[in-house]
Amino acid sequence: MNEIILVVDDDSANLMLAQKILGKEYRVAAANSGMAAFKYLEKNRPDLILLDINMPQMDGFEAMERLKQNEKHNNIPVIFLTADKSVETETRCFQTGALDFVGKPFVPEILKSRVKRILELEKYHTKLEEMVKEQAEIITSRTRRISEIQEHVIEGMANLIESRDNSTGKHVKNTKQYVKLLAEELWERKMYTEILDEEYIQNIIKAAPLHDVGKIKVPDGILQKPGSLTEEEYTEMKRHTEYSQDIIQDIIGDVEDEKYLKIAKEIALYHHERWDGEGYPKGLSGEEIPLCARIMALADVFDALCEERCYKPAIRPMDRVVEILTEGKGTQFDPVMTDVFISMRDRLEALLD
Ligand SMILES: [Fe+2]
Repeated sequence: MNEIILVVDDDSANLMLAQKILGKEYRVAAANSGMAAFKYLEKNRPDLILLDINMPQMDGFEAMERLKQNEKHNNIPVIFLTADKSVETETRCFQTGALDFVGKPFVPEILKSRVKRILELEKYHTKLEEMVKEQAEIITSRTRRISEIQEHVIEGMANLIESRDNSTGKHVKNTKQYVKLLAEELWERKMYTEILDEEYIQNIIKAAPLHDVGKIKVPDGILQKPGSLTEEEYTEMKRHTEYSQDIIQDIIGDVEDEKYLKIAKEIALYHHERWDGEGYPKGLSGEEIPLCARIMALADVFDALCEERCYKPAIRPMDRVVEILTEGKGTQFDPVMTDVFISMRDRLEALLD
């Protein structure tokens, strides 16, 4: 289909002449004032505008200014029409963003060739923009895919590590789900808003599977011991928090962004801290314990209670699990967060197989 050219000129003889010169190759629309041009633009999008400078009420420069301010129209190419061929006018034409200008009275061949050249340029410009957009989409989608693969590999590795001491092998998946549920509920209830935002929540969910990767360095004899641990063995077991932090730094320290890395390391190092300061490895208390680690602590203990382990059966009924969590409120866990977690009991239970 032929391109549409809008000619804006208060002189009807010029409009007719433009129609005569360009009408064979293009569809020509005419407007006899700036106002009429904008009325036309409300419902149409020409491929090019030929804009007269000297018009009563709204002159060409003013019309151009309005065009540039309007997102819908500001990329339509404009050629100015003028009888004034002074350097000042020519300079102003280009300064306002016109791609060219044509002197009046029109010389048919000059007008035609200028119009043809600008329309061709515009076509290349559009094509180039499309190509850039297409390439950007490809890059975004590949980056997303690489990030998904990385997440899967990390989760797979965490699962392998967990499976050494966990008979069900679902701890990684379960705790991630509980962390997600709790973090989103706190966000929904507008709690901890000074720390919690959408990015923080996404980072906690993504980082949760890494919380115990340090267990890879804890010997089987300790991890799989059915009875209680000696003091020495327990000390070694507790080191898994620091080991986890170091491993996280090693495997994703160079590739992940700072905020995510910080959360992943905080979860790993502090998820066994207690609200009353009696936890490990640092003995932090209350709000000294990073929020992400307080969330992880609840999810971790809830899963440990609900699932069977080599040293204990799964605890049931759910009332007993809730009782144990309630006992830990304000001693082991953040008290406010514990209330929220317990209030989600039905949704948590629904996630258990
Ligand atoms: Fe742990």
